[in-house]
Amino acid sequence: MSWTDTTHPDADTLAAALAQILADTIRAGLAQRGRASLALAGGRTPFPVYRRLAEAALDWPKVSLLATDERWVELAHPASNTRELHAAFAAATGVRVLPLTPAEPGPVASAEPARAMLASLAGPFDAVLLGMGVDGHFASLFPGAAELQHGLDPASPDDALVVHPDPLPREAPFPRISLSRARLLRTRRLLLAATGTAKRVILDQAKTRLDPLCLPISALLHDDSAKVEIHWSP
Ligand code: 6PG
Repeated sequence: MSWTDTTHPDADTLAAALAQILADTIRAGLAQRGRASLALAGGRTPFPVYRRLAEAALDWPKVSLLATDERWVELAHPASNTRELHAAFAAATGVRVLPLTPAEPGPVASAEPARAMLASLAGPFDAVLLGMGVDGHFASLFPGAAELQHGLDPASPDDALVVHPDPLPREAPFPRISLSRARLLRTRRLLLAATGTAKRVILDQAKTRLDPLCLPISALLHDDSAKVEIHWSP
């Protein structure tokens, strides 16, 4: 088994616990290497974590943050995860938020800007915090997407890829740039935040090793090189 599974009584307690873990992880990275980098999920669930974490007294100018995945929209668009990260970390003066997309993306989605940015980040992430959809997707590795197999390939040399979710998710109907499974796993800690009964059911199914092309999160839970720290609350 490649996971731990912690149940919190409510979403506030979950957010506080994850903010503490991330703050401790950043402190350790700064003490050991003089810098820290985190890849952070978009969606709704983890933003209370980010707002709490931003209040921590840390040497923020030495910390780099990026989204685990991004929508192919301009930086100022309400659906931009990078824009949301900027807002959530407003209190973290000097933190670097690295975009996966150009400020004004053209009509055709491209992973090149993300790959170039990721190539400039040496070494593994200090932490990756993932969310999960009720279809079992993480980052933007969606079941049904033509690019899913490529994104889940543990040997993929590609740090990031373009994904066209099919169907496009209603809440953010855009092509995506996603970090690959291989890049997400190059991390010192791998955390997963999920809330609600529907996601509990999916997590429990994924533990029984369903086909990752149907339930992508199961690829992580059963990857012997990964240890997924699941944090769930009702
Ligand atoms: C995104 C994501 C995505 C998200 C899940 C869960 O940008 O959409 O990074 O993987 O984490 O869809 O989203 P919720 O937390 O909103 O349920």
